[in-house]
Amino acid sequence: MGNVTFELADHIATLTIDRERALNALNRELLADLGAAIELARAERVRCIVVTGAGTRAFVAGADVGQMATMTRREAAAFSELGNRVFRTLERLPIPSIAAVNGYALGGGCELAMSCDIRLASTRAVFAQPEVGLGITPGFGGTQRLARLVGAGIAKELLFSGRRIDAARAREIGLVNDVVEPEALMDAALGLAREIAAQAPIAVRATKEALTLGQHVDLDTALGVEVAQFASCFETNDQRGAMAAFVEKRTPAPFEDN
Ligand code: HXC
Repeated sequence: MGNVTFELADHIATLTIDRERALNALNRELLADLGAAIELARAERVRCIVVTGAGTRAFVAGADVGQMATMTRREAAAFSELGNRVFRTLERLPIPSIAAVNGYALGGGCELAMSCDIRLASTRAVFAQPEVGLGITPGFGGTQRLARLVGAGIAKELLFSGRRIDAARAREIGLVNDVVEPEALMDAALGLAREIAAQAPIAVRATKEALTLGQHVDLDTALGVEVAQFASCFETNDQRGAMAAFVEKRTPAPFEDN
């Protein structure tokens, strides 16, 4: 995976978008590498994924404009489908993901961050969907996920104007969960990832499944999904062990994911 580094420690996979000379811009090859890294995280049964960008300037400065510049409509559709497939796979993975947004998150970069479950930003982060200034629309989910995250009004303002916002504004509108100093970003992301990884993995996965599956159906159907996910946690060693420890006033053993 030449453009994405994969580090595994403490059940946490850190995926670093690593194309620093182009501010980590997403080209076809990089998207394929990201897809492979996501599948590796799944195969390794990691408990949390942290996504960040190499270097100090950019998370991801967008899709690769050089590669897009001469695309035909057919090629553009294939590129959009590729990015959407990879980002949707990340979003649908039953493993929580945290975007550690360390700099520019423009266009496809903002879209990648929005495909993660949680976004933490450094004070240096800058967000925008600047596509209309390049004569195109967002194509990796920006026209859909931004409005779902921040509401239609603010999303339309950002999407129609292409304007950039800083981390403080991103927090204000709910695009990011928290903002920290640049030096503290990875510690904050990994600290949260460790907290998540210390919980019962079956329960965390089931919680994400309930949230994801329940999001786009009516409430009664969604509550049915919750019932099924809740029940699926029972009779597992982790559930039995944690509840027995509580009842017997003992410290529970670490969760074993079974
Ligand atoms: C290709 C990029 C790039 C990008 C930066 N680079 N962003 N290459 N695609 N999106 C490259 C530059 O060409 C340059 O390479 C190097 O990274 C450093 O960038 P500079 O522009 O020299 O740095 P600076 O002046 O600090 O400006 C940083 C910047 C600017 C503000 C982030 O690079 C910028 O505006 N980038 C484009 C941002 C953008 O429009 N993103 C949205 C793309 S559309 P060289 O070789 O010259 O050193 C999109 C659509 C997604 O994402 C959906 C598709 C289906």
